[in-house]
Amino acid sequence: MNNLSNIIIDLIETAKKHEQYRSNECINMIASEGVKSPAVCQMLDMSHDLATRYAEGDNDQQGHANKRFYQGQKYSSKIENHATDAIKSLFNTTWADIRLISGTHANTATFKGLTSASKNNKMVVTPLSCGAHISHDYTGLAGGILGLQNANHVYDIKEFNIDPDKSAKVIRATKPGIVTFGGSLFLFPHPIKELRDVCDEVGAYIAYDAAHVLGLIAGGQFQDPLREGADFITASTHKTFPGPQGGVIMGIPDTVAKEKAVRKIQHAVFPLTASSTHLGRLPALGIACLEMKIFGKELSAQIVKNAQAAGQYLYENGIKVVAEHKGFTESHQIALDIRAFGGGNKIAQEIEDANIILNKNLLPYDDQSDKENPAGLRVGFHAVTRHGMKESDVKYLCDLMMDIIKGKRTPEQVKVDVIALKKGFSQVKYGFQSVEEALKYAKT
Ligand SMILES: Cc1ncc(COP(=O)(O)O)c(C=O)c1O
Repeated sequence: MNNLSNIIIDLIETAKKHEQYRSNECINMIASEGVKSPAVCQMLDMSHDLATRYAEGDNDQQGHANKRFYQGQKYSSKIENHATDAIKSLFNTTWADIRLISGTHANTATFKGLTSASKNNKMVVTPLSCGAHISHDYTGLAGGILGLQNANHVYDIKEFNIDPDKSAKVIRATKPGIVTFGGSLFLFPHPIKELRDVCDEVGAYIAYDAAHVLGLIAGGQFQDPLREGADFITASTHKTFPGPQGGVIMGIPDTVAKEKAVRKIQHAVFPLTASSTHLGRLPALGIACLEMKIFGKELSAQIVKNAQAAGQYLYENGIKVVAEHKGFTESHQIALDIRAFGGGNKIAQEIEDANIILNKNLLPYDDQSDKENPAGLRVGFHAVTRHGMKESDVKYLCDLMMDIIKGKRTPEQVKVDVIALKKGFSQVKYGFQSVEEALKYAKT
Protein backbone atom coordinates (compact mmCIF):
# COMPACT_ATOMS: atom_id res chain seq x y z
CA MET A 1 0.00 0.00 0.00
CA ASN A 2 1.47 3.36 -0.92
CA ASN A 3 1.68 6.37 1.29
CA LEU A 4 -1.31 8.16 -0.24
CA SER A 5 -3.57 5.14 0.34
CA ASN A 6 -2.58 5.05 3.99
CA ILE A 7 -3.27 8.74 4.31
CA ILE A 8 -6.72 8.36 2.74
CA ILE A 9 -7.67 5.35 4.87
CA ASP A 10 -6.77 7.27 7.98
CA LEU A 11 -8.43 10.43 6.68
CA ILE A 12 -11.75 8.62 6.18
CA GLU A 13 -11.52 6.86 9.54
CA THR A 14 -10.68 10.11 11.29
CA ALA A 15 -13.52 11.95 9.59
CA LYS A 16 -15.94 9.26 10.81
CA LYS A 17 -14.52 9.48 14.33
CA HIS A 18 -14.91 13.25 14.32
CA GLU A 19 -18.60 12.99 13.38
CA GLN A 20 -19.23 10.48 16.14
CA TYR A 21 -17.22 12.46 18.72
CA ARG A 22 -18.52 15.98 18.15
CA SER A 23 -22.08 15.05 17.11
CA ASN A 24 -22.87 12.26 19.55
CA GLU A 25 -20.46 12.33 22.47
CA CYS A 26 -19.75 16.01 23.12
CA ILE A 27 -21.82 18.91 24.34
CA ASN A 28 -20.97 21.99 22.31
CA MET A 29 -20.80 25.40 23.95
CA ILE A 30 -18.59 27.17 21.43
CA ALA A 31 -20.39 30.47 20.93
CA SER A 32 -19.65 30.68 17.20
CA GLU A 33 -20.82 27.22 16.14
CA GLY A 34 -24.41 26.58 15.10
CA VAL A 35 -26.57 23.50 14.66
CA LYS A 36 -28.11 22.65 11.31
CA SER A 37 -31.47 20.88 11.27
CA PRO A 38 -31.98 17.54 9.48
CA ALA A 39 -33.89 19.45 6.78
CA VAL A 40 -30.98 21.83 6.17
CA CYS A 41 -28.58 18.86 6.03
CA GLN A 42 -30.88 16.96 3.68
CA MET A 43 -31.17 19.99 1.39
CA LEU A 44 -27.37 20.27 1.29
CA ASP A 45 -27.28 16.61 0.34
CA MET A 46 -29.75 17.27 -2.47
CA SER A 47 -27.64 20.10 -3.91
CA HIS A 48 -24.47 18.34 -5.04
CA ASP A 49 -24.63 19.39 -8.67
CA LEU A 50 -25.18 23.00 -7.66
CA ALA A 51 -22.14 22.70 -5.42
CA THR A 52 -19.92 22.17 -8.48
CA ARG A 53 -21.18 25.15 -10.53
CA TYR A 54 -20.03 28.69 -11.14
CA ALA A 55 -22.18 31.81 -11.35
CA GLU A 56 -19.77 34.72 -11.72
CA GLY A 57 -21.43 37.98 -12.62
CA ASP A 58 -23.09 41.18 -11.49
CA ASN A 59 -26.19 41.61 -9.35
CA ASP A 60 -28.79 44.36 -9.45
CA GLN A 61 -29.92 46.70 -6.65
CA GLN A 62 -32.36 44.08 -5.32
CA GLY A 63 -29.47 41.64 -5.00
CA HIS A 64 -30.69 39.52 -7.90
CA ALA A 65 -28.52 37.87 -10.52
CA ASN A 66 -28.07 40.28 -13.38
CA LYS A 67 -25.31 39.54 -15.86
CA ARG A 68 -23.85 36.04 -15.65
CA PHE A 69 -20.65 35.06 -17.41
CA TYR A 70 -21.24 31.28 -17.61
CA GLN A 71 -23.85 29.33 -19.52
CA GLY A 72 -26.15 26.81 -17.86
CA GLN A 73 -27.71 29.22 -15.35
CA LYS A 74 -31.36 28.44 -16.17
CA TYR A 75 -32.07 27.32 -12.60
CA SER A 76 -29.08 28.49 -10.59
CA SER A 77 -29.85 32.21 -11.00
CA LYS A 78 -33.41 31.55 -9.85
CA ILE A 79 -32.11 29.61 -6.85
CA GLU A 80 -29.75 32.45 -5.92
CA ASN A 81 -32.57 35.00 -6.29
CA HIS A 82 -34.93 32.95 -4.13
CA ALA A 83 -32.34 32.49 -1.38
CA THR A 84 -31.59 36.24 -1.52
CA ASP A 85 -35.30 37.03 -1.30
CA ALA A 86 -35.75 34.59 1.60
CA ILE A 87 -33.12 36.39 3.66
CA LYS A 88 -34.45 39.81 2.65
CA SER A 89 -37.93 38.78 3.69
CA LEU A 90 -36.80 37.40 7.04
CA PHE A 91 -34.82 40.51 7.95
CA ASN A 92 -37.14 42.97 6.23
CA THR A 93 -34.49 44.48 3.96
CA THR A 94 -34.58 45.53 0.32
CA TRP A 95 -31.09 44.36 -0.59
CA ALA A 96 -28.89 41.40 0.30
CA ASP A 97 -25.85 39.70 -1.13
CA ILE A 98 -25.39 36.05 -0.23
CA ARG A 99 -22.56 35.20 -2.59
CA LEU A 100 -19.68 35.30 -0.14
CA ILE A 101 -18.81 32.17 1.72
CA SER A 102 -18.18 33.45 5.23
CA GLY A 103 -18.54 36.37 7.60
CA THR A 104 -14.93 37.38 7.08
CA HIS A 105 -15.48 37.56 3.31
CA ALA A 106 -18.64 39.59 3.89
CA ASN A 107 -16.58 42.01 5.96
CA THR A 108 -13.90 42.16 3.26
CA ALA A 109 -16.36 43.24 0.57
CA THR A 110 -18.27 45.57 2.87
CA PHE A 111 -15.23 47.38 4.26
CA LYS A 112 -13.75 47.63 0.76
CA GLY A 113 -17.03 48.86 -0.75
CA LEU A 114 -17.70 51.42 1.98
CA THR A 115 -14.11 52.69 1.81
CA SER A 116 -14.53 53.31 -1.93
CA ALA A 117 -17.98 54.87 -1.50
CA SER A 118 -16.79 57.26 1.22
CA LYS A 119 -13.35 57.77 -0.36
CA ASN A 120 -12.09 57.49 3.19
CA ASN A 121 -9.91 54.67 4.52
CA LYS A 122 -10.36 55.36 8.22
CA MET A 123 -12.53 53.12 10.36
CA VAL A 124 -13.60 53.32 14.01
CA VAL A 125 -13.96 49.86 15.55
CA THR A 126 -14.37 48.15 18.90
CA PRO A 127 -10.95 47.27 20.34
CA LEU A 128 -9.92 43.69 19.61
CA SER A 129 -9.33 43.22 23.33
CA CYS A 130 -12.97 44.11 24.01
CA GLY A 131 -14.60 41.61 21.68
CA ALA A 132 -14.17 42.83 18.09
CA HIS A 133 -13.42 40.22 15.46
CA ILE A 134 -9.88 40.12 14.09
CA SER A 135 -11.24 41.12 10.65
CA HIS A 136 -12.11 44.57 12.07
CA ASP A 137 -8.63 45.15 13.41
CA TYR A 138 -5.51 46.74 11.98
CA THR A 139 -3.66 43.47 12.75
CA GLY A 140 -6.20 41.50 10.68
CA LEU A 141 -8.16 41.96 7.48
CA ALA A 142 -8.89 45.69 7.98
CA GLY A 143 -5.29 46.77 8.38
CA GLY A 144 -3.31 43.85 6.98
CA ILE A 145 -5.22 43.34 3.72
CA LEU A 146 -7.36 46.42 3.10
CA GLY A 147 -4.81 48.88 4.52
CA LEU A 148 -7.44 50.70 6.58
CA GLN A 149 -6.39 53.03 9.38
CA ASN A 150 -8.20 52.15 12.57
CA ALA A 151 -9.15 54.12 15.62
CA ASN A 152 -10.89 52.41 18.52
CA HIS A 153 -14.24 53.07 20.14
CA VAL A 154 -13.80 53.79 23.82
CA TYR A 155 -14.95 50.68 25.64
CA ASP A 156 -16.35 50.74 29.17
CA ILE A 157 -14.92 47.59 30.72
CA LYS A 158 -17.31 47.74 33.66
CA GLU A 159 -20.37 47.93 31.44
CA PHE A 160 -18.97 45.48 28.86
CA ASN A 161 -20.04 47.88 26.15
CA ILE A 162 -18.94 50.78 23.96
CA ASP A 163 -19.03 54.14 25.79
CA PRO A 164 -21.20 56.25 23.46
CA ASP A 165 -20.17 59.70 24.72
CA LYS A 166 -16.45 59.01 24.61
CA SER A 167 -16.73 57.17 21.28
CA ALA A 168 -18.59 60.16 19.78
CA LYS A 169 -15.48 62.21 20.51
CA VAL A 170 -13.27 59.60 18.80
CA ILE A 171 -15.56 59.60 15.74
CA ARG A 172 -15.56 63.41 15.55
CA ALA A 173 -11.78 63.55 15.87
CA THR A 174 -11.10 60.66 13.44
CA LYS A 175 -13.72 61.50 10.77
CA PRO A 176 -13.83 57.90 9.52
CA GLY A 177 -15.57 56.52 6.43
CA ILE A 178 -16.82 53.51 8.42
CA VAL A 179 -17.87 52.93 12.01
CA THR A 180 -18.37 49.31 13.03
CA PHE A 181 -20.41 47.68 15.77
CA GLY A 182 -20.84 44.03 16.70
CA GLY A 183 -18.28 41.49 17.80
CA SER A 184 -17.23 38.05 18.91
CA LEU A 185 -17.37 38.51 22.67
CA PHE A 186 -20.74 40.22 22.50
CA LEU A 187 -22.94 40.33 25.58
CA PHE A 188 -25.02 43.51 25.20
CA PRO A 189 -26.49 45.46 22.28
CA HIS A 190 -24.16 48.16 21.00
CA PRO A 191 -25.14 51.86 21.04
CA ILE A 192 -25.98 52.39 17.37
CA LYS A 193 -28.85 54.82 17.99
CA GLU A 194 -26.69 56.94 20.26
CA LEU A 195 -23.92 57.25 17.63
CA ARG A 196 -25.97 57.54 14.41
CA ASP A 197 -26.03 61.37 14.49
CA VAL A 198 -22.31 61.77 14.95
CA CYS A 199 -21.72 59.30 12.08
CA ASP A 200 -23.98 61.48 9.90
CA GLU A 201 -22.08 64.56 11.02
CA VAL A 202 -18.77 63.15 9.72
CA GLY A 203 -20.26 61.22 6.78
CA ALA A 204 -19.46 57.73 8.06
CA TYR A 205 -21.32 54.58 7.09
CA ILE A 206 -22.26 52.22 9.93
CA ALA A 207 -21.45 48.55 9.35
CA TYR A 208 -22.82 46.18 11.98
CA ASP A 209 -21.16 42.78 12.24
CA ALA A 210 -23.95 40.41 13.25
CA ALA A 211 -21.93 37.22 12.70
CA HIS A 212 -22.64 36.03 16.25
CA VAL A 213 -26.13 37.37 16.80
CA LEU A 214 -27.84 37.00 13.41
CA GLY A 215 -30.16 34.26 14.67
CA LEU A 216 -31.10 36.31 17.72
CA ILE A 217 -31.88 39.29 15.49
CA ALA A 218 -34.03 37.05 13.27
CA GLY A 219 -35.93 35.99 16.40
CA GLY A 220 -36.42 39.61 17.52
CA GLN A 221 -34.39 38.91 20.64
CA PHE A 222 -31.41 41.24 20.26
CA GLN A 223 -31.15 44.77 18.87
CA ASP A 224 -32.52 45.45 15.37
CA PRO A 225 -29.45 47.12 13.81
CA LEU A 226 -30.97 48.40 10.56
CA ARG A 227 -33.91 49.97 12.38
CA GLU A 228 -31.54 51.52 14.95
CA GLY A 229 -29.45 53.26 12.33
CA ALA A 230 -26.92 50.81 10.87
CA ASP A 231 -26.49 51.14 7.11
CA PHE A 232 -25.34 47.58 6.51
CA ILE A 233 -25.23 44.26 8.34
CA THR A 234 -22.58 41.65 7.66
CA ALA A 235 -22.82 38.16 9.12
CA SER A 236 -22.07 34.46 9.02
CA THR A 237 -25.07 32.23 8.32
CA HIS A 238 -23.91 29.42 10.63
CA LYS A 239 -23.61 30.66 14.20
CA THR A 240 -26.81 31.59 16.05
CA PHE A 241 -28.33 31.61 12.56
CA PRO A 242 -28.61 27.87 11.93
CA GLY A 243 -27.86 27.69 8.23
CA PRO A 244 -25.02 26.19 6.22
CA GLN A 245 -21.62 27.88 6.46
CA GLY A 246 -21.76 31.12 4.50
CA GLY A 247 -21.77 34.90 4.59
CA VAL A 248 -24.37 37.58 4.03
CA ILE A 249 -24.47 41.36 3.62
CA MET A 250 -27.77 43.23 3.94
CA GLY A 251 -29.10 46.75 3.85
CA ILE A 252 -31.96 49.06 2.95
CA PRO A 253 -30.47 51.35 0.28
CA ASP A 254 -33.03 54.15 0.56
CA THR A 255 -30.65 57.09 -0.01
CA VAL A 256 -28.29 58.01 -2.83
CA ALA A 257 -25.33 57.41 -0.50
CA LYS A 258 -26.52 53.90 0.36
CA GLU A 259 -27.28 53.06 -3.28
CA LYS A 260 -23.76 54.09 -4.16
CA ALA A 261 -22.45 51.96 -1.30
CA VAL A 262 -24.40 48.93 -2.55
CA ARG A 263 -22.83 49.31 -6.01
CA LYS A 264 -19.37 49.55 -4.48
CA ILE A 265 -19.94 46.56 -2.17
CA GLN A 266 -21.28 44.50 -5.07
CA HIS A 267 -18.19 45.36 -7.08
CA ALA A 268 -16.11 44.31 -4.09
CA VAL A 269 -17.99 40.96 -4.01
CA PHE A 270 -17.47 40.37 -7.73
CA PRO A 271 -15.03 40.76 -9.37
CA LEU A 272 -12.84 41.76 -6.42
CA THR A 273 -13.23 38.91 -3.89
CA ALA A 274 -15.43 36.05 -5.16
CA SER A 275 -15.25 33.66 -8.06
CA SER A 276 -16.90 30.41 -6.95
CA THR A 277 -19.78 31.41 -4.68
CA HIS A 278 -20.48 27.88 -3.35
CA LEU A 279 -24.01 27.74 -4.74
CA GLY A 280 -24.74 24.35 -3.14
CA ARG A 281 -25.50 25.99 0.22
CA LEU A 282 -28.20 28.34 -1.10
CA PRO A 283 -31.33 26.12 -1.06
CA ALA A 284 -30.39 25.04 2.48
CA LEU A 285 -29.97 28.70 3.46
CA GLY A 286 -33.53 29.28 2.28
CA ILE A 287 -34.81 26.44 4.49
CA ALA A 288 -32.95 27.90 7.49
CA CYS A 289 -34.71 31.24 6.79
CA LEU A 290 -38.10 29.52 6.94
CA GLU A 291 -37.11 27.75 10.18
CA MET A 292 -36.17 31.07 11.75
CA LYS A 293 -39.39 32.68 10.52
CA ILE A 294 -41.42 29.95 12.21
CA PHE A 295 -39.35 28.93 15.25
CA GLY A 296 -36.84 31.81 15.57
CA LYS A 297 -38.71 33.81 18.20
CA GLU A 298 -39.17 30.88 20.57
CA LEU A 299 -35.67 29.54 19.92
CA SER A 300 -33.85 32.82 20.51
CA ALA A 301 -35.89 33.67 23.61
CA GLN A 302 -34.93 30.29 25.10
CA ILE A 303 -31.26 30.73 24.13
CA VAL A 304 -31.05 34.02 26.03
CA LYS A 305 -33.02 32.62 28.99
CA ASN A 306 -30.63 29.68 29.17
CA ALA A 307 -27.56 31.93 29.02
CA GLN A 308 -28.92 34.19 31.76
CA ALA A 309 -29.96 31.26 33.95
CA ALA A 310 -26.49 29.74 33.63
CA GLY A 311 -24.85 33.08 34.45
CA GLN A 312 -26.96 33.45 37.58
CA TYR A 313 -26.43 29.84 38.70
CA LEU A 314 -22.66 29.87 38.21
CA TYR A 315 -22.46 33.24 39.96
CA GLU A 316 -24.50 31.99 42.94
CA ASN A 317 -22.11 29.06 43.17
CA GLY A 318 -18.97 31.13 43.47
CA ILE A 319 -17.85 31.49 39.84
CA LYS A 320 -17.05 35.02 38.69
CA VAL A 321 -19.36 35.69 35.74
CA VAL A 322 -18.73 39.08 34.16
CA ALA A 323 -21.36 41.85 34.02
CA GLU A 324 -23.25 40.47 37.00
CA HIS A 325 -24.81 43.91 37.69
CA LYS A 326 -26.38 43.82 34.21
CA GLY A 327 -27.82 40.31 34.43
CA PHE A 328 -24.72 38.74 32.81
CA THR A 329 -25.88 38.87 29.18
CA GLU A 330 -28.56 39.74 26.68
CA SER A 331 -27.14 37.43 24.02
CA HIS A 332 -26.35 33.74 23.55
CA GLN A 333 -23.08 33.86 25.47
CA ILE A 334 -21.66 34.56 28.90
CA ALA A 335 -18.05 35.18 29.92
CA LEU A 336 -16.46 33.70 33.04
CA ASP A 337 -13.38 35.03 34.76
CA ILE A 338 -11.81 31.81 35.90
CA ARG A 339 -8.45 33.06 37.18
CA ALA A 340 -9.20 31.92 40.73
CA PHE A 341 -9.39 28.34 39.47
CA GLY A 342 -6.30 28.27 37.25
CA GLY A 343 -7.27 30.40 34.23
CA GLY A 344 -9.01 29.85 30.91
CA ASN A 345 -6.36 27.70 29.31
CA LYS A 346 -6.27 25.08 32.04
CA ILE A 347 -10.01 24.96 32.65
CA ALA A 348 -11.03 24.88 28.95
CA GLN A 349 -8.74 21.89 28.46
CA GLU A 350 -10.04 20.05 31.52
CA ILE A 351 -13.63 20.72 30.46
CA GLU A 352 -12.78 19.42 26.97
CA ASP A 353 -11.40 16.27 28.59
CA ALA A 354 -14.91 15.77 29.95
CA ASN A 355 -16.38 16.23 26.43
CA ILE A 356 -17.80 19.72 26.97
CA ILE A 357 -16.40 21.93 24.23
CA LEU A 358 -16.08 25.67 24.85
CA ASN A 359 -13.31 28.17 24.40
CA LYS A 360 -10.84 30.09 26.48
CA ASN A 361 -11.03 33.84 25.97
CA LEU A 362 -8.93 36.86 26.76
CA LEU A 363 -11.00 39.32 28.77
CA PRO A 364 -10.73 43.08 28.17
CA TYR A 365 -8.56 43.59 31.25
CA ASP A 366 -6.17 40.68 30.45
CA ASP A 367 -2.62 41.27 29.25
CA GLN A 368 -3.47 40.96 25.55
CA SER A 369 0.04 39.87 24.62
CA ASP A 370 -0.24 36.81 26.86
CA LYS A 371 -2.62 34.87 24.59
CA GLU A 372 -1.81 31.55 26.24
CA ASN A 373 -2.89 32.78 29.63
CA PRO A 374 -6.41 34.20 29.36
CA ALA A 375 -8.51 34.76 32.46
CA GLY A 376 -11.69 33.87 30.72
CA LEU A 377 -13.99 31.32 29.19
CA ARG A 378 -16.64 32.25 26.62
CA VAL A 379 -19.65 29.97 26.90
CA GLY A 380 -22.37 29.79 24.23
CA PHE A 381 -25.88 28.44 24.72
CA HIS A 382 -27.47 28.25 21.28
CA ALA A 383 -26.32 24.71 20.42
CA VAL A 384 -27.59 23.19 23.67
CA THR A 385 -30.83 25.15 23.31
CA ARG A 386 -31.36 23.93 19.76
CA HIS A 387 -30.96 20.43 21.10
CA GLY A 388 -33.81 21.14 23.50
CA MET A 389 -32.20 22.15 26.80
CA LYS A 390 -34.16 24.38 29.14
CA GLU A 391 -32.99 26.26 32.24
CA SER A 392 -32.96 23.21 34.55
CA ASP A 393 -30.90 21.18 32.03
CA VAL A 394 -28.45 24.02 31.64
CA LYS A 395 -28.05 24.25 35.42
CA TYR A 396 -27.21 20.55 35.55
CA LEU A 397 -24.66 21.14 32.79
CA CYS A 398 -23.21 23.97 34.92
CA ASP A 399 -22.99 21.52 37.85
CA LEU A 400 -20.92 19.19 35.67
CA MET A 401 -18.64 22.06 34.65
CA MET A 402 -18.29 23.23 38.24
CA ASP A 403 -17.30 19.74 39.36
CA ILE A 404 -14.27 20.16 37.10
CA ILE A 405 -13.62 23.85 37.76
CA LYS A 406 -13.64 23.27 41.53
CA GLY A 407 -11.72 20.00 41.29
CA LYS A 408 -14.48 17.92 42.90
CA ARG A 409 -14.31 15.19 40.26
CA THR A 410 -11.87 14.33 37.51
CA PRO A 411 -12.75 15.11 33.86
CA GLU A 412 -12.83 11.34 33.20
CA GLN A 413 -15.52 10.90 35.88
CA VAL A 414 -17.57 13.83 34.60
CA LYS A 415 -17.28 12.64 31.00
CA VAL A 416 -19.51 9.64 31.74
CA ASP A 417 -22.30 12.00 32.82
CA VAL A 418 -21.73 14.30 29.85
CA ILE A 419 -22.12 11.45 27.37
CA ALA A 420 -25.28 10.29 29.15
CA LEU A 421 -26.66 13.85 29.11
CA LYS A 422 -25.88 14.23 25.41
CA LYS A 423 -27.91 11.09 24.65
CA GLY A 424 -31.02 12.84 25.97
CA PHE A 425 -30.41 15.89 23.78
CA SER A 426 -29.36 14.49 20.45
CA GLN A 427 -32.26 15.68 18.32
CA VAL A 428 -32.58 19.11 16.74
CA LYS A 429 -35.56 21.13 17.94
CA TYR A 430 -37.04 24.38 16.56
CA GLY A 431 -36.49 23.18 12.99
CA PHE A 432 -37.68 20.77 10.33
CA GLN A 433 -36.81 17.11 10.36
CA SER A 434 -36.91 16.84 6.54
CA VAL A 435 -37.24 18.89 3.37
CA GLU A 436 -40.69 17.35 3.00
CA GLU A 437 -41.70 18.81 6.37
CA ALA A 438 -40.34 22.24 5.37
CA LEU A 439 -42.42 22.05 2.19
CA LYS A 440 -45.51 21.19 4.20
CA TYR A 441 -44.99 24.28 6.42
CA ALA A 442 -44.29 26.47 3.39
CA LYS A 443 -47.57 25.39 1.80
CA THR A 444 -49.73 26.16 4.86
C1 LIG B 1 -17.92 39.13 14.95
C2 LIG B 1 -17.42 38.18 13.93
N1 LIG B 1 -17.30 38.58 12.67
C3 LIG B 1 -16.86 37.77 11.70
C4 LIG B 1 -16.49 36.48 11.99
C5 LIG B 1 -15.97 35.61 10.90
O1 LIG B 1 -16.97 34.80 10.44
P1 LIG B 1 -16.62 33.55 9.53
O2 LIG B 1 -16.05 32.55 10.45
O3 LIG B 1 -17.94 33.18 8.95
O4 LIG B 1 -15.64 34.00 8.51
C6 LIG B 1 -16.58 36.01 13.30
C7 LIG B 1 -16.18 34.61 13.61
O5 LIG B 1 -16.39 34.06 14.61
C8 LIG B 1 -17.04 36.87 14.30
O6 LIG B 1 -17.11 36.48 15.57
